[in-house]
Amino acid sequence: MPVLDQFRLDGKRALVTGGSRGLGLEMARALGEAGAQVIISGSNADNLQKACTELGSEDLHVTSVQADLSRPEEAERMCDVLLKEHPPIDILVNNVGGRRLNTPTEDLALEDWHRIMDLNLTQVFILTKRLGAAMIPRQWGRIINIASINAFWPGKVMRGRSYETSKAALAMFTKAVAADWAMHGITVNAIAPGPFLTDANRRWIGERPEFEGEVATSIPMGRWGRPGEIGPLALYLASEASSFMTGSVLVLDGGKLLW
Ligand SMILES: NC(=O)c1ccc[n+]([C@@H]2O[C@H](COP(=O)([O-])OP(=O)(O)OC[C@H]3O[C@@H](n4cnc5c(N)ncnc54)[C@H](OP(=O)(O)O)[C@@H]3O)[C@@H](O)[C@H]2O)c1
Repeated sequence: MPVLDQFRLDGKRALVTGGSRGLGLEMARALGEAGAQVIISGSNADNLQKACTELGSEDLHVTSVQADLSRPEEAERMCDVLLKEHPPIDILVNNVGGRRLNTPTEDLALEDWHRIMDLNLTQVFILTKRLGAAMIPRQWGRIINIASINAFWPGKVMRGRSYETSKAALAMFTKAVAADWAMHGITVNAIAPGPFLTDANRRWIGERPEFEGEVATSIPMGRWGRPGEIGPLALYLASEASSFMTGSVLVLDGGKLLW
């Protein structure tokens, strides 16, 4: 097959969790532009509607499902809806996650620890188990987990180490499931982004404006990532182009981990 054709996703259906904003929205756009039917999820109905309108105006085939994935029971309910009401998911992008806390370990409440683990890890387990299991009989699937460079490196400025721990666990979950499901034609890979200018980071910059420059100068390329720069890598992992890659955690960080 000609090389560019290997990136086409015609006839495939993709779920991008957290696809209404930030990195998720750009990955949804990339997969949609390659021909996939895309379902985006989010917790906020207005944000979902706005994203569907935006992507729809670009002639992309996008629908949405609403669920708060920080709650395991909501992740289960979303899987029930998807498995019952939608035809099979071929490509699962587990993108929802975040820090939402900057509390030092010595002050971190147990319930907050569990909340971050549920947001970054437990719901990925649930979606992988339920939607990935449905890929097994079809003997084809792509699972892409969005980890972080903080899976390998504790951030210097930010606290709340539950984030680093959950993303490191997500990287290992990626490898373990990749090994188990390789025989079923399902690849499982992760992307470990460095700092990207999304709403999540704009919030931290809003609280401490010097953060924006500090981060930029800590990156060899001298700038933050642009959300659209994750789209091509997600498309590679979602398509036939990556047919011999599984269990990889690909760093996308402008060289941040080099220093
Ligand atoms: N941005 C970075 O620099 C960076 C770096 C490394 C790793 N990452 C990882 O990349 C992923 C995306 O980050 P981002 O910066 O793009 O985040 P973002 O701008 O905050 O976007 C988050 C997306 O997830 C949805 N979302 C958030 N909480 C949710 C919840 N509880 N239930 C369901 N949906 C929820 C949001 O929709 P609603 O608000 O409508 O719910 C939105 O669509 C995360 O896993 C993050 O850890 C990001």
